[in-house]
Amino acid sequence: MTQLYAERTDEYIGLIERELDRLIPGAECLQGRVMEAMRYSAANGGKRVRPILTLEFARLCGLEVRAALPFACAVEMIHTYSLIHDDLPCMDNDDMRRGKPSCHIEFGEDTALLAGDGLLTLAFEVMLREYDPKCISPRSAITAAALLASNSGVNGMIGGQVIDLMSEGKTIDIETLRTMDRLKTGALIDAACRMGCVIAGAPREKLDAAGSYAAALGLAFQIVDDILDVTGSTEELGKPVGSDAENKKSTYVSLLGLDACRDAVRRLTDNAVRALAHFEGGTEYLAELAENLATRKN
Ligand code: IPE
Ligand code: IPE
Ligand code: MG
Ligand code: MG
Ligand code: MG
Repeated sequence: MTQLYAERTDEYIGLIERELDRLIPGAECLQGRVMEAMRYSAANGGKRVRPILTLEFARLCGLEVRAALPFACAVEMIHTYSLIHDDLPCMDNDDMRRGKPSCHIEFGEDTALLAGDGLLTLAFEVMLREYDPKCISPRSAITAAALLASNSGVNGMIGGQVIDLMSEGKTIDIETLRTMDRLKTGALIDAACRMGCVIAGAPREKLDAAGSYAAALGLAFQIVDDILDVTGSTEELGKPVGSDAENKKSTYVSLLGLDACRDAVRRLTDNAVRALAHFEGGTEYLAELAENLATRKN
């Protein structure tokens, strides 16, 4: 890991976690319990890949990093909500997340459901309320919020989660699998990358290049997630291993086997790095991020 990568990652994670702490306050009030559950799930343990991507693409396209924080935190809130709901007994039924008991284990299913809903709605409140019109035009802020909305919904993350549930116990074809992963995981990663460009007022070519990087990175990311469910350890992952087999999930590993998965991750990571050539330099961090995610252990 280069020094640039380590230092910038530390800086970004510090900014993101302090801002999440501020944006998701606890409170002594009747609804305090759901706020506590939202804070609990968002607090720590996550890699913060999506908000880091938003900050870095914004920086690359010339925006001051701090101005991108509301959008970075919004994508992390949507991601955290998706994990809370993903772990529920009616979905993957997983008891552990980010090294702690899952939200529904700690707070009960009813509160976990509502904590997810609370984070989903807060994400949009934060983007539209907290953006600084001195740095980001209202038009760009609205475009970014619309992008996150569509990529999170039935034609994005939710759509992918539905295909995932429908595919349990079945053998699906590779095209369906790719669509499922593009939607359930790729869509939020795409929003994270492209939002950074949108709020910085970047031109179409840069948005498209960010989209190409995100498409390759997003698919590689889910394939690695599927690999780690087989080869990883609970201690390192902070979530149960073997969950996919237990739920008879259709995954890259179940369909193609580990070796083909590793080849696909290599190829996709190279594609992601290649897509960065459309920017005029300054892409070392994003290239190293793609490489590190390909060999990650959690
Ligand atoms: C896990 O995402 C769910 C997938 C979409 C694969 P991450 O691996 O980014 O989870 P955290 O945020 O680091 O906990
Ligand atoms: C989750 O995929 C994707 C979303 C939450 C949108 P997984 O079900 O594979 O994620 P993990 O393995 O539980 O983190
Ligand atoms: Mg799932
Ligand atoms: Mg899951
Ligand atoms: Mg998984």
